[in-house]
Amino acid sequence: GRVGVLYGGRSAEREVSLMSGQGVHDALRSQGIDAHLFDTGRYTLVDLINAGFDRVFIALHGRYGEDGTLQGALELLRLPYTGSGTLASSLAMNKIMTKKVWLQQGLPTPAYMSMDARTSIDEVIAALGLPLVVKPPHEGSTLGITKATTREEVAAAYRLAASYDDEVLAEQFIKGRELTVPILGSGPAARALPAIEIVAPGGNYDYEHKYISDETQYICPAALAPALAAELARLSEQAYRALGCEGWGRADFMLDESGKPWLLEMNTSPGMTSHSLVPMGAKAAGMSYAELCVEILSTASC
Ligand code: DAL
Ligand code: MG
Repeated sequence: GRVGVLYGGRSAEREVSLMSGQGVHDALRSQGIDAHLFDTGRYTLVDLINAGFDRVFIALHGRYGEDGTLQGALELLRLPYTGSGTLASSLAMNKIMTKKVWLQQGLPTPAYMSMDARTSIDEVIAALGLPLVVKPPHEGSTLGITKATTREEVAAAYRLAASYDDEVLAEQFIKGRELTVPILGSGPAARALPAIEIVAPGGNYDYEHKYISDETQYICPAALAPALAAELARLSEQAYRALGCEGWGRADFMLDESGKPWLLEMNTSPGMTSHSLVPMGAKAAGMSYAELCVEILSTASC
């Protein structure tokens, strides 16, 4: 049947999604699947109904694509879709809610405070120390994120993050190595793929270094002692199940200087661009980009 690749959309990550969707579409077509691109930023749900798709591959990132809203609409339309359902998508789209769930399950995630306009910056610094990281809880691709080293930087970082979100996350900074673990499957069958280490120039893996620059180095599989690699896989699977994720996802970590892993966030509709990480992990597990797309599509449900 006809497969819709939902891409673009109207979040701050639209440009990334245009690349992800094009890649997925081309790969599915190369495997003989009747895939069609559908830009949810240009067309409406009525157009989606009229497009006559049997199922859809969600290659959208951020709000109105990765955050549970679209998933709810697809449930109502009874149109099978890839990835997590409404609840897991909305939880994972909010980095503060994600941390609450993980902490409740005893999973390691850096200390944090939620900030709004009335929060005392001195209290945040007293609680978390400096440097600290300020994030808009609902964005992806590091948009609006700042590592702040001084009181003035925290104030400026808050203002930037608050331009994206009403609520702002201040998080303890973990110095160390940056790692990410893709996960495929659902429920007890969910399994971690090999971890990837990200080495960005100056430790600055920001939007530019994610999608534009070629200076970022990716090491896959990451060079980790077998026991640590197994612990990362186990933590990723637990973090994924704790949120109720399905289909596929990617857990982002920091490994501190003592070798302890800290969970930062879960991505329920991760990037699928030529620079993206899930395809790297799949490749290390012997799965091509096209095979990965077909596998994810095969998990579509509603
Ligand atoms: N939010 C971007 C697309 C990612 O997680 O890959
Ligand atoms: Mg993210």
